[in-house]
Amino acid sequence: MSKKIALLGATGSIGTSTLDVLRNLGFELVAFSFHSNVNRAKEIVKEFHPRFAVCTSNKKSDIGVPILYGRDGLEFVASLEDVDIVLVSTAGTIGVFPTLAALKSGKRVALANKETLVSFGPIVKKTLEKSQGEIIPVDSEHSAIFQLLDGRKDEVENIYLTASGGPFRQTPKDELKNVKPRDALKHPTWSMGRKITIDSATMINKGLEIIEAYYLFDMPPERIKVIVHPQSIIHGMVELRDGAWLAHLSFPDMRIPIQYALTYPERLPSPVRTFNPFEVSELTFEKPDMEKFPGLKLAYEVLKEGRELPTIFNAANEEAVYLFLDEKVGFTDIPEIIHRVIELNPGFDHNSLEGLLEADRWARGKVKEVARKLNK
Ligand SMILES: NC(=O)c1ccc[n+]([C@@H]2O[C@H](COP(=O)([O-])OP(=O)(O)OC[C@H]3O[C@@H](n4cnc5c(N)ncnc54)[C@H](OP(=O)(O)O)[C@@H]3O)[C@@H](O)[C@H]2O)c1
Repeated sequence: MSKKIALLGATGSIGTSTLDVLRNLGFELVAFSFHSNVNRAKEIVKEFHPRFAVCTSNKKSDIGVPILYGRDGLEFVASLEDVDIVLVSTAGTIGVFPTLAALKSGKRVALANKETLVSFGPIVKKTLEKSQGEIIPVDSEHSAIFQLLDGRKDEVENIYLTASGGPFRQTPKDELKNVKPRDALKHPTWSMGRKITIDSATMINKGLEIIEAYYLFDMPPERIKVIVHPQSIIHGMVELRDGAWLAHLSFPDMRIPIQYALTYPERLPSPVRTFNPFEVSELTFEKPDMEKFPGLKLAYEVLKEGRELPTIFNAANEEAVYLFLDEKVGFTDIPEIIHRVIELNPGFDHNSLEGLLEADRWARGKVKEVARKLNK
């Protein structure tokens, strides 16, 4: 088997793991994108000899291969005739543009970028239904559920997304207001980019994943459950109609779901450390604490309301996380800011991409205003 890949967000955490998978499988990198890490982009060109690079930050540089820019560049490489699979692992909502372009060109999208489905789920689904393309999830929980549902969706009562609980699982609620970015960036089990690591600490990451699961698996919100599992060995579970449960296990390593999204429906050998039950003394489970982590509760609420609320939830969260990383707001301000921005929602046309993009822009603009009031 050999595939030709466009890898968007190649310089990030998922991008780096994906390059390792490509190296191992011998798949060809036709094009890639980066934002500002020019040195890493040069190294990628040197090792993988792609035909194109896309820079999403308009940073002019010579990296030894033609550079395209911005949204147009991402859409161009996502529709190239000789690309089989587009792996979307850029940060942020820009991921929606190459996703739509790839689906319209009948390609497989290996989707890591959560924001695409959370913010633009109905538009992506409509495009998917009309296209010859497909979406295979890369997020480990969704990859697990995708594999567990295989052919048995009608027999499933509930799906369970597991959560490590983040670094503050055992921290008392009233100590969370003093948390600093360096504490929140210490994830207990996964090594990831900074933004998603903060999302894991607030458990808003799991909130984004519930919304992602809703669009991927067509499950009503009340049948998408979250279960805290600190060891991060089980990535997803399904509860079947007859009382049996199925679980998907591995050591936490994103190269497993990445490779599966690239080779599906085949399963190829991989150099990752295989799971060994004798190395794990216990697998434990807890209910998520929705009072301590109100962002998770809010995610269920916005999903049930629908319309443009998930878009606003995602955009407000992203901006609030960057303010927290810059130490402009506190850790517990993040869900509070999102909540307040949602309350100000004037309403947007949620049936069009333009309307949802407007909601996204509006929410980002409101975050600073709300944060200023909160700090007074
Ligand atoms: N990390 C994980 O384990 C994991 C698991 C599941 C899902 N995801 C999702 O995958 C996506 C990427 O996560 P990550 O952890 O790999 O992030 P990351 O390490 O921060 O990498 C982000 C990538 O996107 C690029 N980028 C940064 N800002 C951008 C912008 N404004 N427009 C376009 N590209 C931009 C970066 O380029 P530069 O390096 O040049 O700045 C980098 O290539 C996120 O949506 C995340 O939620 C991640």
